[in-house]
Amino acid sequence: MKAKGTSGVQFSIIISILVTILLMMLLLLFATRHLLDSGFEFIEDVHASKPSDWLQLPPIFNYTQKYLELIAQNGSKPCHNIATKKVQLFGFPDFKEGDTYVKINTGEIHTLLLVAFDDLDQKRCAGGDYFETEISGSNWKSRAPVFDLQDGSYKILLQMHPSFAGVYRFRVILGFSNFHGLHRRPQQWFRNETVVDMHIEFVNEEHDSSGVIHLPRLNQCTKEDFQLDSWLGRWVSFGHNPSCSVDKRGRFRCLDAKARCSDPWCRGPIAALESNGWVYSAHCAFRIFTQDDAWRCLNKKWIFFWGDSNHVDTIRNFLNFVLGFENILEVSRRFDATYYRHPSQYVRITSMFNGHSNTSQNHEGLYSLHDDAYRERIAEFFREGTAPDAIIMNSGLHDGVYWKHLYQFVEGADKAVEFWTSLLNGLQGSKPRVVYRTTITTAGWARAASFNPHKMEIFNNIIVEKLKKANLLWGVVDGFDLTYPWHFDHNCSDGVHYGKPPAAVQWYGQLGHQYFVDLMLVHILMHALCVS
Ligand SMILES: *[C@@H]1O[C@H](CO)[C@@H](O)[C@H](O)[C@H]1NC(C)=O
Ligand SMILES: *[C@@H]1O[C@H](CO)[C@@H](O)[C@H](O)[C@H]1NC(C)=O
Ligand SMILES: *[C@@H]1O[C@H](CO)[C@@H](O)[C@H](O)[C@H]1NC(C)=O
Ligand SMILES: *[C@@H]1O[C@H](CO)[C@@H](O)[C@H](O)[C@H]1NC(C)=O
Ligand SMILES: *[C@@H]1O[C@H](CO)[C@@H](O)[C@H](O)[C@H]1NC(C)=O
Repeated sequence: MKAKGTSGVQFSIIISILVTILLMMLLLLFATRHLLDSGFEFIEDVHASKPSDWLQLPPIFNYTQKYLELIAQNGSKPCHNIATKKVQLFGFPDFKEGDTYVKINTGEIHTLLLVAFDDLDQKRCAGGDYFETEISGSNWKSRAPVFDLQDGSYKILLQMHPSFAGVYRFRVILGFSNFHGLHRRPQQWFRNETVVDMHIEFVNEEHDSSGVIHLPRLNQCTKEDFQLDSWLGRWVSFGHNPSCSVDKRGRFRCLDAKARCSDPWCRGPIAALESNGWVYSAHCAFRIFTQDDAWRCLNKKWIFFWGDSNHVDTIRNFLNFVLGFENILEVSRRFDATYYRHPSQYVRITSMFNGHSNTSQNHEGLYSLHDDAYRERIAEFFREGTAPDAIIMNSGLHDGVYWKHLYQFVEGADKAVEFWTSLLNGLQGSKPRVVYRTTITTAGWARAASFNPHKMEIFNNIIVEKLKKANLLWGVVDGFDLTYPWHFDHNCSDGVHYGKPPAAVQWYGQLGHQYFVDLMLVHILMHALCVS
């Protein structure tokens, strides 16, 4: 009874038979339990919330402790040992005769319940499965957040903006079961089973007198907006040029350079993203910078990067695409350089790779800080007369390989937070603006790897929680949510890099590759650095 097939017809018949019986049973069960005791916050009773709110993830609260406890308990009950064999999805309205697709309203937040069953058709009694989700159409791509209720069922929330009414593909893929994504070498446990694949029609239904449901206007991101722990955004596309292809230099210059962003999804020259119209927004919208805007904001500033090879790509793309240094073909993993536009216009960039304490090696992540010489190299920069204006931090991919168990990663994260706390608290003058950029959602083959999305999502939340608790962060930029909609194939990534330099060469069976996801990140970081 696996729900699959794109017609939706078969699927809907199954629902109409089972929904009354099972949903009633489940609802009864839920009513007698305190769901929040499960250790995972989720937005309670979404139907009762004002329908015109944007869907958001709840703040991270007590995350590390709860997760450590969950993993410590994993294996202690017989039901931890049972694998999910199939799932059933509840919560869509009845399928009406004459409709081609399941129809639901735009604007509202829809709650679905995904229930996991074992091979004897028994409902599973433990959580820990990782489901990847996708809502995709020709001009909208996002995830649908999944909340593990720890009893074998999962809550999935869906929302579509009224301007994007239409038919979308909705997929749910079981990545890992039973927390297996957390293993150091999880490949053998990768399930990669599409458990839901259907189409949904989002419709703008007129409500009695009030008309269709509207969502609040997306505003330009402010300082407060970067205080959210994690984001739930979407990629939307406008002005797509169907005849555009890669040029000799590997670039996708598809749109008129004068084309502007569609309000309210971003502001500025959309063509600068080289995305053929795609742009990302979260709970607020971002600014796309012109070269002059970027220089106005960054002139004479010092930006310090601490992170993995994705930072290396981002810095090069930042120099190439935004600051106008088109001839810089690469930057190294560790460097400290000042880039001049004019004698009076310059920006200093320092980069300290943290994939390993030795720049020619990999797979240490936060453990790189165990190395005295490496720590000292970082600390030196903070003993100069003035500190950097901003620090952009990231870690995750290399941690995924290094740490054998979750509790070891937690210890490593504690040590890293201690290190940065002592460094930054020791500063005399003004403190840098510290931005933590969460790790990307790894794509294609890397969905099964040591740095798979299941593990990275947990690592991201743990480190954000710890950095925030230590009061180190000015803000968070959620690279995980940004990259998620593009992580199912290799169109935008080699698995672990979304920002490889443009090149008109073969890329996973096609000519050239998309680099716009990282370019979007560059502009989001610019926005974070430039917002007052
Ligand atoms: C945090 O979670 C742990 C483990 O679930 C629990 O024992 C503790 O009471 C929680 N703390 C708070 C402040 O809720
Ligand atoms: C969780 O428990 C199950 C059942 O004992 C086990 O197969 C799995 O490896 C455990 N997961 C982790 C991450 O330890
Ligand atoms: C860094 O690693 C390389 C390659 O393994 C090695 O040759 C080199 O000696 C190492 N450098 C240091 C300073 O340990
Ligand atoms: C997962 O499944 C998809 C579709 O069946 C397939 O194309 C892809 O190669 C698989 N990924 C991995 C990492 O096995
Ligand atoms: C990726 O590229 C392939 C081949 O060009 C295309 O069929 C597919 O739709 C693309 N995927 C996405 C998510 O755009």
